[in-house]
Amino acid sequence: MIQHKTLSNPVLSGFKLGKFDINPPLALAPMAGITDLPFRRICRRFGIGLTVTEMIASRAVEQGRERTERMAELDKDESPVSIQIAGSDSKFVVDAALWAVDHGADFVDINMGCPVKKVVKQVAGSAMLRDEALVARVIDAVVQAVDIPVTLKIRTGWDSESKNVQNIAHIAEDNGIQMLTVHGRTRAQMFNGQASWEDIGLAKQAVSIPVIGNGDIVDGASALEMIRQSGCDGVMVGRAVQGNPWVLAEVHAAIMGLPKPEKPSAEEVWAVVHEHMLHLADFHGVKRASKLVRKHVPWYSKGRRGSAEFRSSFQKVFEWDKQIEAAKTYFLSDIHDEEAMSVVRDFAA
Ligand SMILES: Cc1cc2nc3c(=O)[nH]c(=O)nc-3n(C[C@H](O)[C@H](O)[C@H](O)COP(=O)(O)O)c2cc1C
Repeated sequence: MIQHKTLSNPVLSGFKLGKFDINPPLALAPMAGITDLPFRRICRRFGIGLTVTEMIASRAVEQGRERTERMAELDKDESPVSIQIAGSDSKFVVDAALWAVDHGADFVDINMGCPVKKVVKQVAGSAMLRDEALVARVIDAVVQAVDIPVTLKIRTGWDSESKNVQNIAHIAEDNGIQMLTVHGRTRAQMFNGQASWEDIGLAKQAVSIPVIGNGDIVDGASALEMIRQSGCDGVMVGRAVQGNPWVLAEVHAAIMGLPKPEKPSAEEVWAVVHEHMLHLADFHGVKRASKLVRKHVPWYSKGRRGSAEFRSSFQKVFEWDKQIEAAKTYFLSDIHDEEAMSVVRDFAA
């Protein structure tokens, strides 16, 4: 492997959040059903400076379900890390924030960006952006209640007619939020169209707390372009990481002014896929892991030869040992020949 002697000339220099340095200022986006502890553990080796749990509804905390407890489980050495909570009733949100502190969070992140109907119906997530007084009330209650930094993740507004990213940024800062993450879409956009990096810039100009830009980063170049357009202090990557945690290493190199890392070899890819599968089984048990790998493992095949056929064959493999063998055969053998693919097909029920 070529050793680069290039000295780093960072594009972003990181910032303080409470007693922590967020450096590199690169965060893994919270994604429900995806960024559980096993996947965060995989991603952390690729140069991120902050992880966030999946969103945890404050009402779910109240109900004390086992599943909710597991969502807040952090790796022993996972720090700095946020536990993300959601809700609009200050009492429940405060209880959830205190619970997050008890579970070892370095920061509590409040979600005001979730566009999902079930959440929005309860006037939580992105629906809160339509009620600025409510935003202020909930933030203030949480900031008063906990003694660790409270951060906020938002969209740019409810829809294109009612964008209020600057107002929300001001309210956040005035009420004690110490870092703001902006996904540059409105709720109405869901995940369609493009994220507006200029709108992230509006938030950045409105406040003096660190602003993390989020939405549509897919590689090092797009991260740099978002930083150029918005002036954000850090970046957060979500969907591009699904099946491709190496994208984090590429974004990390870009923001640190380092050369682009080489693409992983087939052996390196399989090592990560295998480890991810084992962590999932360890954390969730084989029965649930067996379901989860049907989502994660095909993602890793994206862009590789024979991906479409592997995806459909892999969906039909149900037994854990066979899932491991099928994935190994696909990722490791020089699989692009018909013979290897027929081996994968044989694992299918
Ligand atoms: C499947 C999925 C689940 C998500 N779950 C959460 C969540 O729990 N909390 C949150 O703040 N955002 C959540 N998001 C939004 C992402 O954190 C991020 O804001 C969004 O995907 C845009 O970034 P990207 O273009 O890099 O993916 C989710 C997104 C996806 C695709």
